[in-house]
Amino acid sequence: MADPLTHSPLNDPRVHGVLDRLHRAAAREKPALALSFVTQLPGLLLGRGVRFDPARSGALDDKLIPIGPAQGRLLYMLVRAMRAELVVELGTSYGVSTLYLAAAMRDQGRGRVITSEIIPEKAARARAHFEEAGLSEWVELREGDATETLAAMPGPIDLALLDGFPTIALDVLRTLEPHLREGATVLADDLHLFRHDLGPLVEHLEDPANGYRTLELPIDDGFLFAIRERAAG
Ligand SMILES: C[S@@+](CC[C@H](N)C(=O)[O-])C[C@H]1O[C@@H](n2cnc3c(N)ncnc32)[C@H](O)[C@@H]1O
Repeated sequence: MADPLTHSPLNDPRVHGVLDRLHRAAAREKPALALSFVTQLPGLLLGRGVRFDPARSGALDDKLIPIGPAQGRLLYMLVRAMRAELVVELGTSYGVSTLYLAAAMRDQGRGRVITSEIIPEKAARARAHFEEAGLSEWVELREGDATETLAAMPGPIDLALLDGFPTIALDVLRTLEPHLREGATVLADDLHLFRHDLGPLVEHLEDPANGYRTLELPIDDGFLFAIRERAAG
């Protein structure tokens, strides 16, 4: 299979250059991250995933922990296919996923990505990356806790990406739900790694009463893909 970054639709050298550098940096941080979960190996092997401990999340404060290139390419293509005009993201970090989303907005000539990051240093790094890639005008970065910063929206949401810490994913989805349009797409990363902590989110999305249809995509560490069949009424 073709390498998803090399064969990316993101053929702008400025965007490609920043993404390539960030994906390489993320690959270098992976061994240390894997070691931090070594005591939870049995849970991983049994398919339960690891438990995320918010009290120890400080160790991640300077880590990129981004989506992978295949996920980025999928996000880019979804935005283009849906002609999405408003994309909302929990978890900017250094801006990798946001760059894919913003490139799609730029290439289709309209739209906006609203992304949220709680750590100011990461938000500053992300802003520098948007600038370097020439994509700043397509991004609105809201600093602070996403359960508050993402409450107000300028219009209906076409696509929501939940890629913050797994323990807050459902709270943030509930914050966004009043704004999800009929047919909106919701994606959540790290489904396999955090199968336990993402349980409430998956249950919510799979409950027929909530009006979603879901599918687990075996991309990177498991991408949960859902569409909202009914808008909030
Ligand atoms: C997995 S990383 C996001 C990676 C990013 N989407 C990418 O592909 O580059 C998760 C991010 O969520 C941020 N985060 C955690 N809790 C948050 C909250 N309540 N509100 C906003 N951001 C939060 C973390 O600081 C971290 O940078």
